[in-house]
Amino acid sequence: MNVPLLATNYNEIPDMQPRLITLEGIDGAGKSTHLTTIRQVLTDAGLPWLETREPGGTPLAETLRSLVLSQPMTALSETLLMFAARHDHVERVICPALARGQWVLSDRFVDASYAYQGGGRGVAEKQLVSLEAWVVGSLQPDLTFWFDLDPDEARLRLNRGRGVGDRFEQEQRDFFERVRGGYQRRFQERPDRLCVIDAGQAEVEVSAQVKQALESRLIKWLR
Ligand code: TYD
Repeated sequence: MNVPLLATNYNEIPDMQPRLITLEGIDGAGKSTHLTTIRQVLTDAGLPWLETREPGGTPLAETLRSLVLSQPMTALSETLLMFAARHDHVERVICPALARGQWVLSDRFVDASYAYQGGGRGVAEKQLVSLEAWVVGSLQPDLTFWFDLDPDEARLRLNRGRGVGDRFEQEQRDFFERVRGGYQRRFQERPDRLCVIDAGQAEVEVSAQVKQALESRLIKWLR
């Protein structure tokens, strides 16, 4: 897969609080495509950024990623491996980058565990709350783009784009309905950092919406 893992740009680090921006959505919603738009807006604003993903972003977390995407396992093992990968990622990549003054763009973060393991697999929310507190503490994204898409449309896109999908992509419609519901519940309580994108629109419209939303956040943050 062509993810420019740990890609960075080299804008000078300005004297400004760096932010954590995350992208979320069900498989097939097309979020990864729009990382390009986000990178471009930050670069044009003269901001240094680092792009990464979950599960993944470090050698250990990428190894755990390949396990969770391919091996049959219980919902609890899946959850623990997601959070083990996340711990390494937060400690080695996200926190150091923010401390250096780099903005971090992460293709998925903790919200995905509430949606997939909580909504999709039925792991109890209170377990996820404890793991979140243990693994990421108070670290929260400053802005989250939720690429929301009907699971039927997402399935059509997945079928068009790839061969045999991974363990998650092989799940049925009802799983993705539950994941979507998981995102809905999670974001209901976090409207401030949320930007919902209607991912059913044409790619160029989605990209324009992302660009506009990010630019207006930047104006607010940089004021
Ligand atoms: P994804 O971003 O979809 O990768 P790709 O676009 O290469 O398929 O992420 C991989 C899968 O991991 C995705 O199906 C969702 C799942 N996932 C979880 O179930 N829980 C999590 O906490 C995270 C971060 C991802």
